[in-house]
Amino acid sequence: MNVYIAGKTVVGLLYPLCRAVQVYDINNNVVINTGQKLIEYTQDLFSAMASLDFVRYRDYIFFNKQRLKYEIDSYANLQFMNSLFKNLGIKSVSFSRGLTQAEIIQFANMLKEDRASFQKNIADRKYEHITVECLKQGEEQDEMFEDGQVAKRTYFKALKVTKNLMQNLWSGRPVDVKSSRRVIFSLVDSISRDEYGILALTTIKNFDEYTFNHSLNVGILSLALGQRIGLDRKNLARLGTAGLMHDIGKVEISRDLINKIQKLDDDEWETLKLHSNYGVREILKTRGLDEISMIAITVAYQHHWNYDGTGYPIRESDEEPTLFSKIVRICDSYDAMTTARGYQPVPYLPHFALRVIWSNQNRLFDPILAKVFTQLLGIYPVGSCLELDTGEVAVVMRQNPSTIDRPSVKIIIDRSKEKIDGRTIDLAAEKGVKIIRPTYPQLYGINPASYFL
Ligand SMILES: [Fe+2]
Ligand SMILES: [Fe+2]
Repeated sequence: MNVYIAGKTVVGLLYPLCRAVQVYDINNNVVINTGQKLIEYTQDLFSAMASLDFVRYRDYIFFNKQRLKYEIDSYANLQFMNSLFKNLGIKSVSFSRGLTQAEIIQFANMLKEDRASFQKNIADRKYEHITVECLKQGEEQDEMFEDGQVAKRTYFKALKVTKNLMQNLWSGRPVDVKSSRRVIFSLVDSISRDEYGILALTTIKNFDEYTFNHSLNVGILSLALGQRIGLDRKNLARLGTAGLMHDIGKVEISRDLINKIQKLDDDEWETLKLHSNYGVREILKTRGLDEISMIAITVAYQHHWNYDGTGYPIRESDEEPTLFSKIVRICDSYDAMTTARGYQPVPYLPHFALRVIWSNQNRLFDPILAKVFTQLLGIYPVGSCLELDTGEVAVVMRQNPSTIDRPSVKIIIDRSKEKIDGRTIDLAAEKGVKIIRPTYPQLYGINPASYFL
């Protein structure tokens, strides 16, 4: 019995039951049938496990200690359960062996109540096979203040390895493949524990060291997107390596050209485009020809191929980019748009860059991946600066997967336009505060990344 699949399936069966009791009376056949399906499935599970425990922690749902990931096929169900737990103040729910159809239907029926009556009723009404633990006063606030020390350590370790890798190639020194493999696995682990923690760090854009930060950010964004579409650990490691190395061909191009501030002329532009071809040679040089190299080589060569057949290097009409190349294509464009570089001194605002990705699906980007990517980053990606109707300015700290237009934010500019180290508010919970518009951090002399460090 696969615990992960079991958890996903139970959530998938609980969702229609909760929906059914919202529409029908609990004695209606639709409700009874959906309840029965759930009970039949759990009976099988109870032969292998004594209880089915769901715990919510930081917008994630854990089932018997395993985190259920937001994937395409389970996204709606999981999002529903997450917001249900959050709105009702539920920390955990356990179903134990012997669970009956009547119990689960009555319980589902209670879940449609508001928070106050749910908490009162659940304390009064004892179920023999259902145990609910509610959050204590003040407990919710704490979860937002947990710092991401581990994510930070992983990010900076990965940045160091990326930098070493590229600098060694630049100067013809041998490359340490083992440490880059280790770093990829620590990134994969970090993403699967808490993708929002490490995603926040991709707002670090270092102008002077553009290529290193950019390579790492593309690696991380690709991993997060890959995880959303359900890739396993092995494939995530391949994808992460390919993302990290996508621009490695740039080591063969003069740094003056790469860092040039003026607009590039046609010849310079053609030279720069060659980094896709050079990438093939550089990866062969570093890693030889193992399986991961083959994938990284393909991605380095194809990462500027567009969905509609355009892009460079020129290709035959029947040649299609691989899934990994399509993923990196999107993440690469997003990170490039949102970063200041020589010829782009003011970067795009994150929400605007997302809009560009959205409006160029089918032309530049794979439409399904573009949708998943937008859903992953939310309407206002982490690091966005927002003007609020309170007159304050806030930076987006964390997405709320259940309400993508209402993230958790930190106030950084007060009403009199002074910089402050203000409070963190969860806009999903504080419905009274309205977002007026995203704004440029440069207007206030702030660097959003500094709030994550
Ligand atoms: Fe590139
Ligand atoms: Fe790139």
